[in-house]
Amino acid sequence: MGDMETVEKRANTRPAVTVSYAQTLDGRLATTSGSSQWISSSESLCFAHTLRAKHEAIMVGAGTACRDDPRLTVRLVSGKNPLRVVVDSALRTPLNAAVLANGVAAGTVLAVTERASADRCAEARHVGATVLRLPADTEGRVDLKALLSELYAWGVSSVLVEGGAALITSLLCDRLVDRLAVCVAPKILGSGIEAVGDLGICELNDSLALVDTSIVHYGVDIVFDSRIEYPDSA
Ligand SMILES: NC(=O)c1ccc[n+]([C@@H]2O[C@H](COP(=O)([O-])OP(=O)(O)OC[C@H]3O[C@@H](n4cnc5c(N)ncnc54)[C@H](OP(=O)(O)O)[C@@H]3O)[C@@H](O)[C@H]2O)c1
Repeated sequence: MGDMETVEKRANTRPAVTVSYAQTLDGRLATTSGSSQWISSSESLCFAHTLRAKHEAIMVGAGTACRDDPRLTVRLVSGKNPLRVVVDSALRTPLNAAVLANGVAAGTVLAVTERASADRCAEARHVGATVLRLPADTEGRVDLKALLSELYAWGVSSVLVEGGAALITSLLCDRLVDRLAVCVAPKILGSGIEAVGDLGICELNDSLALVDTSIVHYGVDIVFDSRIEYPDSA
């Protein structure tokens, strides 16, 4: 009953949010220099594209858009491309990025704050992108609740977030993630970019619980696919 109420409460205000990423066994998303392609095996990449095809929108942070230049399309399986969303307060994603260049910008939303200059917004709109200006959070970055509400108002009912670390951490901090699908590759990086940063958790009882977990092997990788239960909503 509690679960139903939680789902209904979420469903009235924002899309269902799945976070998916690939990490090494020691929890790294990328090396210290930001290199992450590819941590996972080709079999896991197919699973990642299957997830893309099952969501209406796919979201990344500006760090990932700038560092990895992902296309955010469905290629390794058949399926429709989701709406692409880049969370980019100052609109620093270059206009020649894969999500904006070669005529694909019409399927891309740039979620910005007042830190994005009017000129940058106009340039992005000129190539066909949708620029969505949103309130800032307490750290001056895009208010993620406001972004999800806006997407929901547009009719988007599911969002797949593919990283990077800062965006994943913010969403978990704000308790905006419903499902986590983590690919664990049998690799050790030592120092590197940690997949999930500080969530302000000091007591084990306050951990986020992963429930209804399925564990599937893809090549040499293991994908943990779970629902998230937040401590006081269980
Ligand atoms: N292994 C994997 O599956 C995987 C997946 C994706 C990325 N990666 C790796 O992750 C690294 C990038 O991660 P990252 O942490 O640097 O960047 P990120 O999470 O992709 O983007 C973070 C940036 O997004 C913007 N942002 C706007 N609003 C935000 C909010 N409310 N919360 C958080 N961020 C917000 C901020 O930039 P502004 O202040 O400019 O808006 C922030 O610096 C790269 O090395 C990439 O290769 C790995």
